[in-house]
Amino acid sequence: MKMKPINLFEYEALASQNLSQMAWDYFASGAGDEVTLRDNRTAFERLKLRPRMLVDVSQRDLRTTILGRSLSMPILIAPMAFQCLAHSEGELATARVAADLGIVTILSTMATKSIEEVAAVNNGSPQWFQLYVHRDRSLTRALVDRAYKAGFSALCLTVDAPMLGRRERDTRHQFHLPTGLELANFVGLEGFEMLQEAGESSLFTYFARQLDPSITWDDLEWLQSLSPLPLVVKGILRGDDALRAVERGVKAIIVSNHGGRQLDGAIATIDALGEVVAAVGGRVEVLVDGGIRRGTDILKALALGAKAVAIGRPILWGLAAGGAVGVQHVLELLKAELDLAMALSGCAKLADIDSSLISP
Ligand code: FNR
Ligand code: LAC
Repeated sequence: MKMKPINLFEYEALASQNLSQMAWDYFASGAGDEVTLRDNRTAFERLKLRPRMLVDVSQRDLRTTILGRSLSMPILIAPMAFQCLAHSEGELATARVAADLGIVTILSTMATKSIEEVAAVNNGSPQWFQLYVHRDRSLTRALVDRAYKAGFSALCLTVDAPMLGRRERDTRHQFHLPTGLELANFVGLEGFEMLQEAGESSLFTYFARQLDPSITWDDLEWLQSLSPLPLVVKGILRGDDALRAVERGVKAIIVSNHGGRQLDGAIATIDALGEVVAAVGGRVEVLVDGGIRRGTDILKALALGAKAVAIGRPILWGLAAGGAVGVQHVLELLKAELDLAMALSGCAKLADIDSSLISP
């Protein structure tokens, strides 16, 4: 019998045994030389903590709010495409666990379960829809309409992918969806298949053909006019961009480099967080993702001003290892690690986590 993983790295190892080479490489890889992918981790490891002693930590409280909705812990599930490559229940398993645990899941435009299917399992908890703006604006509008009507509570616009980053492992495999999997939000639409073309990943080709690389800050007004949903932008790495987002009425910002999958050489997200938090000055909530694998990583992100963090790949590792049970265990491990890290650093509640915990 296989031993049950006791941390997220062990889930990664287990997942690598359960996935096809093509799926593993799609999930695990980063762009180019994968420098940013590695840096997201090493930047966390470099940060040192200054724990406070002799604080009463007998009762710990991990609850918080994001966009006015309560969360049982400061964790969201990052949007990730093609989750049925990891497990047959894919995005449905992820969404069910998020609802059970009382956290937010963000559904990708490029999901293998549809907006409506995922909304049906929300159980009253908030779900966000991640939007890729397509060249066909009526199609983009239809996606927003569907998300709003299905009951999603925020629109998360990903701004770091006007074109897809070049992940060379995907180029090598000419990445494509296996028979039976499809872009669930585009079923029946002609031209929205992932087409196989010699020499490239079919996802790279899809982005080049279908996504609109001309969108700018000025398009945010149009996006906000499509529905009453609050707009979140994901993929900000600079203070001046964060300020532009605030000025245009964005309600939350996710500091992200797409898990090192877009611009290789981009700054590690935990290194970019401080500048964004300073620029925003508390006007909107700031979240961060990229390389978060330990409770102490979450503690560090919150100390540097994030309201919450988003978790990417470890959710896929949980899915690949054991479907919903695996995802739930991954999140429980993280929660227990954060709880312990708070106790050991003298923080009984999230508000006690401040920048003095980080060594300058
Ligand atoms: C992603 N990410 C992503 N982001 C997004 O806005 N829309 C998407 O469809 C996807 N798809 C996707 C697929 C896969 C396989 C991965 C690994 C990532 C990026 C994701 O939301 C998040 O920014 C990073 O994954 C965070 O980094 P970690 O936690 O994976 O290190
Ligand atoms: C990815 C896209 C789909 O990172 O966001 O693969």
